[in-house]
Amino acid sequence: MTPFPSERPLRGSISEGTLDPKIFRSVMSQWVTGISLVTSSDEGVPIGIICNSLTSVSLDPLLLLWTVDRNSSSFEHWMRVDHWAVHFLADDQRDLVKQFAQKGGDKFAGVEFELSDRGVPLLGNTLVRMECTTWNRMDAGDHVVIVGEVDSFEQRYATPLTFVHGSLVAGNLPEPK
Ligand SMILES: Cc1cc2nc3c(=O)[nH]c(=O)nc-3n(C[C@H](O)[C@H](O)[C@H](O)COP(=O)(O)O)c2cc1C
Repeated sequence: MTPFPSERPLRGSISEGTLDPKIFRSVMSQWVTGISLVTSSDEGVPIGIICNSLTSVSLDPLLLLWTVDRNSSSFEHWMRVDHWAVHFLADDQRDLVKQFAQKGGDKFAGVEFELSDRGVPLLGNTLVRMECTTWNRMDAGDHVVIVGEVDSFEQRYATPLTFVHGSLVAGNLPEPK
């Protein structure tokens, strides 16, 4: 087993003063996630954010959640929009991570998309695309949790893009069952 780099403590606690946001971030970086791109448009302005906080929540009704940083340049838009799309990115879509994770700027420059009948930007060739309606929003420290009800989905078979230890990694797919 590869040992941790020496700067990574093996344990920490708030009471002992050995757990802080940087260490928490480093601990959480071992939680392997997919990479999603959430898109919407607010009064005609397209918005998009790369997000790995996505998780499923409920089967009845069909709910998922993701969290948005209060410091995001699109935060106020996300507090208003009722309809949005979640795209699970495939390994061959790493360019979209670079483009949409940049701070501010025109995230959609040069990106091909179509608009849904609710005006939500939909990207092609993603692993999964789901259209959602905001179900609830909850304050959670420096983030807001956005819960969405899933209205529809489309998917294709491709290698998922995953994220662990701060790096993008091609998901290792098992043989289809
Ligand atoms: C792998 C990865 C995962 C991210 N996950 C989230 C997330 O779950 N929620 C969030 O608000 N920002 C997340 N971000 C940050 C945003 O994608 C974006 O980089 C940041 O909000 C700065 O741009 P903005 O201020 O223009 O939104 C993530 C970034 C990366 C690279």
